[in-house]
Amino acid sequence: MLAGRHVVLGVSGGIASYKSCLLARALTEQGARVTTVLTRGATEFVGPATFEALTHRPVLRSVWDPGHALDHITLAQDSDLIIVAPATAHVIARAAQGLADDLLTTMLVAATVPVVLAPAMNDDMLAHPATARNLEQLRARGMTIVGPEIGPLAEGPSERPGRMSEPDTILAHAARVVVRSEGTGLDGKRLLITAGPTREAIDPIRFISNRSSGKMGHRVAEVAWERGAEVTLITGPTTEPPPVGVTVVPVETAAQLAAAVRRALPRADVLIMAAAPGDYRPTTQGETKRKREGGKTWTLELKATDDILLTTKADRKPGSVVVGFALETGDAVSKGQAKLTKKDLDLIVINDASEPGAGFDVDTNRVTILAKDGNRWDLPLTSKREVAGAILDRVERLLVP
Ligand code: CTP
Repeated sequence: MLAGRHVVLGVSGGIASYKSCLLARALTEQGARVTTVLTRGATEFVGPATFEALTHRPVLRSVWDPGHALDHITLAQDSDLIIVAPATAHVIARAAQGLADDLLTTMLVAATVPVVLAPAMNDDMLAHPATARNLEQLRARGMTIVGPEIGPLAEGPSERPGRMSEPDTILAHAARVVVRSEGTGLDGKRLLITAGPTREAIDPIRFISNRSSGKMGHRVAEVAWERGAEVTLITGPTTEPPPVGVTVVPVETAAQLAAAVRRALPRADVLIMAAAPGDYRPTTQGETKRKREGGKTWTLELKATDDILLTTKADRKPGSVVVGFALETGDAVSKGQAKLTKKDLDLIVINDASEPGAGFDVDTNRVTILAKDGNRWDLPLTSKREVAGAILDRVERLLVP
């Protein structure tokens, strides 16, 4: 979302400015053109050469540099986004008052482009009524305030509010702000996404599950939120961290997943079923742990679970877009086509787990997407984030009347 954009990165004087170096690098890696603006305080912590080397772009420090007399206006009005990270209590106070006594604050007064602020400061400074009021004012004026979060501060290891959000979190907000400012993408749409495996208990200790890692569904949720959607992610047990901004509903069994889908579905503009719900569950569950008895066999009786896409069909919002996945081992496309029809889907994302780099627990995937109208796209092996983007591109087109 930030590729090709001109992002102004304002850095003020806080210890969190070391994380702004990572932010500058990440923005550049995503293809953004980054112009860094440092306050005098920032240069006490990090030098201009660091940002110049990371962004391959100019680093500005003063309104008085020869040849840069109008920078504060052009940066504030011709860029795509301004990010201030870290935003110290002092910069926040000056911005709230409309003071313009250095390049960064002059630019903020002139800004017509969206502004994202990532505050970072001592917890007492954050709790001060003046800071709270200043932040509230800036939020009311339309700036996006990201964090601060609770964590160890410079003063010591104890966890307190005031820590600057991590670069990835700031990036996710930045992408969403740019997309929303253009009113494109999935802005305002409600997306319901499922991810991960389920667990069907055998007894209090053991369960039946599958190898789904939840990565694909989490990437879809992440990208959808960055594109402006309101996202609910229903996920089975996974080690994936919750995506920024997304409402996460944790579930364990296929029956819980089905119930959660049924509850949220009537309000969803889009359902993307990336979860791998268990297809079978034990007919009975032991109340205590079954002991191992040497040499004995143990036969489990399993019953098929409900097909969630099929059994919730009547709960779909009229006109909504429904996307399913098909993970096959061999003859994947024709099996996927059969599921597209049977489950009454708009799109199906098919992959073959027997291919290297595709399927469970890897960061890449090679998929074929089939549409109800007969369209077919064979994507190359790529990251699951890219696959998520490709799926959402097609969903967006189906949502546009
Ligand atoms: N799915 C579902 N309910 C289930 C199992 C799967 O809604 N109980 C959904 C999956 O989330 C996926 C699609 O159906 O979007 C296809 O899942 P898949 O496991 O490939 O197919 P199944 O319908 O389970 O058929 P089979 O396992 O026999 O291939």
